Amino acid sequence: MFEFTAPFRETSGSPIRELFKYLGEPGMISLAGGYPSSDLFDVERLQQSAAAAWREPARCLQYAPTDGLPELKHEVMRLMQQRGVDVAADQLMLTTGSQQGLDLLLRVLINPGDGVLVEQPAYPATLQALRKQQARIVTVPVDADGLDVERLTAMLESGECGKPKLLYTVPTFANPTGATLSRERRVALIELAVKYGFLIVEDDPYGDLRFTGEHVPAVRALAGQIDGGVERVVYFGSLSKIVAPGLRVGWTVAHPDIVRRCVIAKQTADLCSAPYTQAIAADYLAQGFLAVHLPRIIAAYRRKCDLLCDELDAQLAGRLQFQRPHGGMFVWVRVEGVDSSELLTHAIAQKVLFVPGRAFYADQADASSLRLSFAGPGIEEIGEAASRLARACKLATL
Ligand SMILES: Cc1ncc(COP(=O)(O)O)c(C=O)c1O
Repeated sequence: MFEFTAPFRETSGSPIRELFKYLGEPGMISLAGGYPSSDLFDVERLQQSAAAAWREPARCLQYAPTDGLPELKHEVMRLMQQRGVDVAADQLMLTTGSQQGLDLLLRVLINPGDGVLVEQPAYPATLQALRKQQARIVTVPVDADGLDVERLTAMLESGECGKPKLLYTVPTFANPTGATLSRERRVALIELAVKYGFLIVEDDPYGDLRFTGEHVPAVRALAGQIDGGVERVVYFGSLSKIVAPGLRVGWTVAHPDIVRRCVIAKQTADLCSAPYTQAIAADYLAQGFLAVHLPRIIAAYRRKCDLLCDELDAQLAGRLQFQRPHGGMFVWVRVEGVDSSELLTHAIAQKVLFVPGRAFYADQADASSLRLSFAGPGIEEIGEAASRLARACKLATL
């Protein structure tokens, strides 16, 4: 009846959001979404910051500048400095979650058919955004150290991937694999971006959530040490995983020419992100609350991660393969000889949810892979979730 534009003719949405319908089932334990734990929200301090923001009601109720409230930009610049990145005001814009930053970036840079390199497996919403923009997606494999930069080098040298415009990666505690790109590979990647003239899109919502191992600087931080590197990196940050996704506070750091175009694109998307939550976030950061909150959530996620991995080892030894992540929210698992979409049917019957691996592949999906998130469920639910998964595995292999 309606004539939709080509990208919106088909109606399949986010494969992860499709699982939401099961969340409300009584007794369901979800290891599916990349949700932070609701129990860990810093409610009291956020209430304090909300009260502080409300002392200037007009700032909360009036339109804000499209690139963000100046006081929050100031705080994000300080946060970026702690991450080893000096950012000027015209290199930064605030967005409605970092997801909007990606959407705007693709709108200003990607024409239908443009080549975009994506790590594989990858965050599904990025694949979805790329498809809607009609990009030509070229996948690059990942291993335990993140993106396989050697393979990428060969692809670029041989010309098999054409002339890509950008490369998307979550280099630190990746979604879905949990892997972190080594420092050496980061440097090699920046050198490739300079040599072949593509942009690296560094999506970094999880970088602060390190449980163990040595800090690896952001790609954007390392780019400062390489001639021509800085302008080759677009960095996305977010408060979603470290404070609260409901604030919808994300940011883009990029060359001023890119930021300017994204600001224009945002003008037609939503004029500005909600000033009230920006003002809350600005006060929260200015008071130093994040520095107090982070160690608390890191300790809690670490315990959950350890427990989930221990339980998987104990209850599913020999059936699953996975690598213990050093941070973030995800464990990437392979169940040899089992299709994880079929396994999900059994898992739902056993009242546990996960995301089948297919969702994370643009091509040649590994059907035996799946993603578990340990962040959302209560610590007391994790052992039970592993038992249910073990029962589902048994049923799937009968
Ligand atoms: C890799 C990655 N990028 C971006 C996002 C979206 O974050 P935001 O809430 O800031 O839009 C997520 C959320 O799950 C994510 O995992």
